[in-house]
Amino acid sequence: MDVKDYKESVETAAEFLSERIEFKPRVAIVLGSGLSGIAHSLQDPVTIPYSEIPSFPVSTAPGHKGELIFGKLNGKNTMLMNGRFHFYEGYTMQQVTFPVRVMQLLEVEVLIVTNAAGGLNPTFEVARPMIITDHINCMGDNPLRGPNVEEWGPRFPDMSEPYDIQLRELALQVAKEEGIPVHEGVYVAVAGPNFETPAELKMLRWFGADAVGMSTVPEVIVARHGGIRVLGISAISDRAVADDLKPLTAQEVLENAEKAGEKMANIISKVVDRL
Ligand code: HPA
Repeated sequence: MDVKDYKESVETAAEFLSERIEFKPRVAIVLGSGLSGIAHSLQDPVTIPYSEIPSFPVSTAPGHKGELIFGKLNGKNTMLMNGRFHFYEGYTMQQVTFPVRVMQLLEVEVLIVTNAAGGLNPTFEVARPMIITDHINCMGDNPLRGPNVEEWGPRFPDMSEPYDIQLRELALQVAKEEGIPVHEGVYVAVAGPNFETPAELKMLRWFGADAVGMSTVPEVIVARHGGIRVLGISAISDRAVADDLKPLTAQEVLENAEKAGEKMANIISKVVDRL
């Protein structure tokens, strides 16, 4: 799709949503694999399936629904994206990040992204949340490739602080107060869909990453391009350590992500409360 058509599709989707909802969402939350639990905390929810939104892609990954839920989280106008689009599903980077552009047009100020990720750092514990400090894009593509829409952001966007330091500190503070142990670290995104070989895990660790996953980075790049502040939290769902690697299934990833998910929902709800 050329950039003019893409821009028009995003605008059409944003207009459709503005007409359906009575408030402007200040916060948007992207729910990763096994992390849809927080959806239950939303007050006065209005659910809109992706299939009803003009031009919106439709999600196919296991553990992922396909709906936007608008409502109040601790009194704050919030938009939940229940089910994201992954590059490995065959979507283009523009499709993967379509919802983030819609958020930008709806004037969302803060984006909270979640995902399930393998722990490359050997000291990491499974089923713990990791506050993302930075990321590495190893997906081999970039959502900003192609003509730049100047209205949306600069050609060469700054990435010196992709994950907002104040939001990170707030998340750490809240986790401490709630007695939830968390890790902090660098997230590396790969294209997937296969889990990594031992040699790949060694390389990614050597790159300086603490956790590996197949999402998030495209959305964060677009959010930063559009001036949205970002908080990222990974659910460490498996040990991705080359020297003691065991066979891994998507089922195991989902189960452990769900365990971390309860803690993450608690952290996110308190962070939103204090925004
Ligand atoms: N590798 C890549 N993606 C993942 C993993 C992993 O070990 N766990 C959850 N998502």
